[in-house]
Amino acid sequence: MSSFDTIDTLNADTDIASEKRVLVRVDLNSPISDGAVQDNRRFERHAQTVQELSDAGYHVILLAHQGRPGDDDFVSLEGHASVLETYLDCDVKFIDDTYGSRVGESIGVTEPGDVLLLENTRMCEDELPEADPETKADTTFVQSLSGHVDAYVNDAYSAAHRSHASLVGFPSVLPSYAGRVMETEYEANTAIAKKEFDGTVIMAVGGTKATDVIDVIDNLGESVDSFLLGGVVGELFLRASDIPVGFDISSETDRYDTQWERNSEVINSILTDHADQITLANDLAYDDAGERAEVAVDSITDKSVSFMDIGTATAELYADMIRDADAAFVKGALGVFENKDFAVGTVQVLEAIAETECFSVVGGGDTSRAIEMYDMNKTDFDHVSIAGGAYIRALTGEPLAGIEALESETV
Ligand code: 3PG
Repeated sequence: MSSFDTIDTLNADTDIASEKRVLVRVDLNSPISDGAVQDNRRFERHAQTVQELSDAGYHVILLAHQGRPGDDDFVSLEGHASVLETYLDCDVKFIDDTYGSRVGESIGVTEPGDVLLLENTRMCEDELPEADPETKADTTFVQSLSGHVDAYVNDAYSAAHRSHASLVGFPSVLPSYAGRVMETEYEANTAIAKKEFDGTVIMAVGGTKATDVIDVIDNLGESVDSFLLGGVVGELFLRASDIPVGFDISSETDRYDTQWERNSEVINSILTDHADQITLANDLAYDDAGERAEVAVDSITDKSVSFMDIGTATAELYADMIRDADAAFVKGALGVFENKDFAVGTVQVLEAIAETECFSVVGGGDTSRAIEMYDMNKTDFDHVSIAGGAYIRALTGEPLAGIEALESETV
């Protein structure tokens, strides 16, 4: 179905036999809490590719990103190495740089089967911004790092919508292959994009990234009947509907206002153009001295607390709508589900999907973690993707830059 080579071809390739150095791009981008990376399914899934390569005797050199420059979750990957290690039979070494002589030396002393994680790719100035593969291939980062390895494996399906150096730069300078996560996610998401449904198609969208949600609604407006909103983005849409929420209060550092400035125009136009497809929360939950408390959206006159979840009435409404659907998709959590007091919205929506026969897909590294945290059965969902933005783009049929680069690999 795809036209990229996989690890099977790498293994069969006599020029890159075992005991060679393989640069592997994974996606370990994760929630960060109090500076510490939170474990999630991305680690577990990528560990399978890493273990397979390590067991085959390759020297595995890992590249990954975390957060975006300027954001609170833009941190070093040192903690990620420790989390990844818990899923592997071997140590994960870490070096706090992305290329250059120290990196070259560290790669040079690896043994067959070793795993070495390099620093957050977005700390390297050549990684961003997006540019075409030729431009990225010409960067010092790609040129220098590729000199220390023999092949490139892209396993980061969930970041494949970004045209960044670590995702599109290497296929024109190194023999390149898709990892196991890339392969399986690509196949599942491409097949889903081709499906047609007779009945109602519902999509619950939440999380913190407003631009992703806007893209979803813009691109899937024709094929999704109802979007059920929650999370930070749900609050931004309420703000556009003249409810006094969706802005930062002193305890919240820039969760809402910057995103509002960047996206308010589009949010307003979505509310005009897709009004009958958008359902917003009619109640919200917050923490009141350690207890969950709720407030009806209509009675909010001033935002004085952080909202952590959709309210119970909204969660029931969303679950009822899902029970009548032919297909249900989820992108992003509807609340801070890591805290069980504020998991009501996310869990109730997932449980409604699990108990009905509708075709269902859950996307997002974070959201897929809720399935495990709350002991739901993965097999009750047709597909659980660790990708968020990439999964949405795949559903719209939009090409993914990282996959195009693998497909047009020239070496
Ligand atoms: C994700 O978490 O969706 C991917 O890692 C991409 O991250 P980004 O939206 O910061 O590019």
